[in-house]
Amino acid sequence: MKILCIAVAVLSLVSVGQPASLACNNLLTPTDKNPELLGRWHMIAFASESCLATTLFNSLVWPSLAMDVTSKDKPNTYDYNIKVKMYGFCFNETETFIYENSKMIDLDSNNSPTGDPDVVLQTSCPDCIVLKSNDYIDTLLLLSKRKSVSDAELKEFETQTQCLGWSAVKMLNTEFDFDNCKILNDDISDEEAETLGNNILSTMSERLSGMYNDIYNCFRDKVWSYFY
Ligand SMILES: *[C@@H]1O[C@H](CO)[C@@H](O)[C@H](O)[C@H]1NC(C)=O
Repeated sequence: MKILCIAVAVLSLVSVGQPASLACNNLLTPTDKNPELLGRWHMIAFASESCLATTLFNSLVWPSLAMDVTSKDKPNTYDYNIKVKMYGFCFNETETFIYENSKMIDLDSNNSPTGDPDVVLQTSCPDCIVLKSNDYIDTLLLLSKRKSVSDAELKEFETQTQCLGWSAVKMLNTEFDFDNCKILNDDISDEEAETLGNNILSTMSERLSGMYNDIYNCFRDKVWSYFY
């Protein structure tokens, strides 16, 4: 039994160990390429500084997210329409951002910068962007023009989050059909409210067992982080 404990301990240390710092320096540098921003972006995976927040969000909400970027008449200025699908319902919202010096800066209705800019980090994936944001909490988001990425591309993203000392990467829902869904708006009918309620409950119960395991892993990693 003792041998098993030691084996588990060693494995845990290996799995949360920090990768070489040289690669980290590189991966946490803003991109020096100019990504082709126009078009549809699929949000593939994310991580945050809070293991618990990431886990609860991805277990209980597990949305599909995509973003359509279109150009404005002003240089470096873009509209983006974020599409969200969760529990079988969809909604979307359009905002404007300006891209400069590897940063995406949101503009308000008066075209003034608002909030903290998102930084676009290095990635070797040719049609991906990696966004480091600080909205409510620090997050890292992997977006691709494709609906999925290769294992190697995902691995690099995982390394980026480990470089930051963050928790495990979570995969977002990759069901990117935003046409066949109920529209979520303010005047929701009783029938729609009932469907929504049922969908929320079934999503949560399907993902509950995974959630307990992930929460356990959050605490395990936290405890082990005191030892290395
Ligand atoms: C955004 O949502 C509205 C309903 O609120 C819908 O009519 C519209 O087609 C959607 N727009 C896009 C670009 O998906």
